[in-house]
Amino acid sequence: MFKVLISDPLSEFGIQKLLDAPDVEVVQKPGLSPSDLLAEIGDYDALLVRSQTQVTTDVLAAGKKLKAIGRAGVGVDNIDINAATQAGVVVINAPDGNTMSTCEHSFAMLMAVARNIPQAHKKLTDGKWDRKSFQGVELNNKVLGIIGMGRIGTEVAKRAKAFNMTVIGYDPFLTEERAQKLGVIHGSVEDIVLQADFITVHTPLIKETRHILSTREFEKMKTGVRVINCARGGIIDEKALYEAILTGKVAGAALDVFEVEPPVDNPLIGLPQVVVTPHLGASTLEAQENVAIDVSEEIIKILRDEPFKNA
Ligand code: MLT
Repeated sequence: MFKVLISDPLSEFGIQKLLDAPDVEVVQKPGLSPSDLLAEIGDYDALLVRSQTQVTTDVLAAGKKLKAIGRAGVGVDNIDINAATQAGVVVINAPDGNTMSTCEHSFAMLMAVARNIPQAHKKLTDGKWDRKSFQGVELNNKVLGIIGMGRIGTEVAKRAKAFNMTVIGYDPFLTEERAQKLGVIHGSVEDIVLQADFITVHTPLIKETRHILSTREFEKMKTGVRVINCARGGIIDEKALYEAILTGKVAGAALDVFEVEPPVDNPLIGLPQVVVTPHLGASTLEAQENVAIDVSEEIIKILRDEPFKNA
């Protein structure tokens, strides 16, 4: 029997896939502390996580029998990939399952920041009928810059086109032909920074994308620009964003992700121009079902030495 440890909350549909496999024994311990994980992991052939569990060098060293780690989601930044590779442990993620949910959340945040919806809601539920403080802006005829035209960025672009926005897309892998097909202007980060009314980021957090929007970029942006980050904290430099909001260069920001999560003493939270959610991009019934099923199916294949999708 292969033993699989699930150390974060996972959709029951994914768990059922594992339970249905006659050669798999499933142990669910969501919320396992780092020290308990270290003590436990030695017994398991595979580990299944979302974003809470930190799969460190120590975890990999202690996981003597580990063959595979599955991440029910896209980002694998909570897993030490180098240490896993050195230990010969396969790391897989679920790159497709939460695309639509994250795209829709990004678009909801874009609209929320354009029309001050959370701020107005708060005022009204606090008992104040205030129709003066929340004048917003239309999306119609505006320029949306999308940094990162992968799965999620592409879906955001399609929705922006339906709102009659001009879309400039940047991605090192975006071809002119693909851009044309999507009705997107193929631009650089600089083009986006100079021309966009709204900028949304959809890249992974890697060396090249860390603080891709920082002081230098904010200085060049149009006054009144609004920025959205539903990808990863750290793609936008939070300190630079805070300064740019205070100077009035940035009119609003919508953030689902933060450099430190949960955020601690983050001055952006509480600014009237900033709309926030606690990393909810993939938090839908559908996305959680999809990623849990995808990753569970692949883990079973790896354990059985069957061909699996590469992460
Ligand atoms: C992802 O990387 O899949 C999303 O950020 C959602 C999550 O962390 O669960």
